[in-house]
Amino acid sequence: MSSTAMILLIITLLSLYLAVGIMDGVRRRYLQFKQQQKQQLQLYRLRRQGDLLKLWLRHPEGQLLAKAKPGQHLQLFSQDQLGHPISRAYSIVSDYKQRRYYSLAIKIEATGRLTPLLAQQLKQGQLLQCSYPKGHFQLEFSPRSFFNSFVKAPKLLVKSRPVVLIAGGIGITPLLPMVNAALRQQRPVTLVYQARQLQDLLHHRKLLRLAKNTNLHYLPVLSQPDTEWPGQRGRVHAAQLAQLGGTKADYLLCASATMVRELEQSLATLGCRRVQHELFSAAHSTQSFAITLGTSEANSLGHSSVLDALLASGVKVPFDCRGGSCGACALRLVSGDCKNVLQNEYTVGEHEILSCCVQANSPLHLEWPTTAADEQPLPLQQSSSLTTHDDTTFA
Ligand code: FES
Repeated sequence: MSSTAMILLIITLLSLYLAVGIMDGVRRRYLQFKQQQKQQLQLYRLRRQGDLLKLWLRHPEGQLLAKAKPGQHLQLFSQDQLGHPISRAYSIVSDYKQRRYYSLAIKIEATGRLTPLLAQQLKQGQLLQCSYPKGHFQLEFSPRSFFNSFVKAPKLLVKSRPVVLIAGGIGITPLLPMVNAALRQQRPVTLVYQARQLQDLLHHRKLLRLAKNTNLHYLPVLSQPDTEWPGQRGRVHAAQLAQLGGTKADYLLCASATMVRELEQSLATLGCRRVQHELFSAAHSTQSFAITLGTSEANSLGHSSVLDALLASGVKVPFDCRGGSCGACALRLVSGDCKNVLQNEYTVGEHEILSCCVQANSPLHLEWPTTAADEQPLPLQQSSSLTTHDDTTFA
């Protein structure tokens, strides 16, 4: 090949690389923008089963809804009893291919700020303010599965990466569409579902049926079963999970913070690296560190995040989603060390933290973000809202 042709080839490849980078950047920006937008959806069906509220939402004029990826959630915007804005994120339970409606399953928490109100006030036909589907807790794509789904190749030729889904209690909700997705991709899929008692297993019969008719390996585990329970008792252990999926599988966990941490650490020591998680809520910090923000002070002990610690001390930090997606609670980290307790999808600037997603790992010195340095922090009642985590439905 002549040197001119070589140069032309290099320039073409570089241009292609740049173009793909730019297009990807634009696509990400657009998605981020879209995720900040709100939409009105109509509640066309509503059912209550014990402490579970099931909602079906559709477009008021019957249009197709935005595509949701398996594992994503919707944020609901409402008002609390004092008329303060409040929002929570709830997993979309319906199949991700369904574009006529989204269904949500919400656990009603007697002490929650939003769910008791939803249970009392929601009426069929009502319009609700919602976000578009969002969230990074998603089943990752396996290229070989893609090949399988198109070519229907014999399984001996193309082996897809196995999927192990682990749910604790209401943490099953984002995993249900993932079961469908994994089955469609013809991937070996195991669902391990930990709950207290048989009646706490959501969609149990449906899952049993699915396991009978498909390749799903469904393993319900009860910690406090009655004597007739024929299945596994006690707790799920990482060694058992690693045996089910092996070191190459995708592990997706949605459960309480304690369960997720224990399993995640043990899976890592067993060589399982492809682990993602979603928490109901972060465990409360057991460490006592001073947190200073300007002239205000707080302490980390007993709080699930830096934001919680500051709010509990009366510091009016603006916030919205409390789940790492809006960026409202961003603060500048001047000194100290934080650890992430929730996955964030909003990208913060250098030396910034999302205070709802981190706990203090040492004494912290924080300041208001530089871009907002001249602005006063918003009064609490203008920006306050809570997210899912207090109501234990994942976000
Ligand atoms: S409050 Fe939304 S990212 Fe922290």
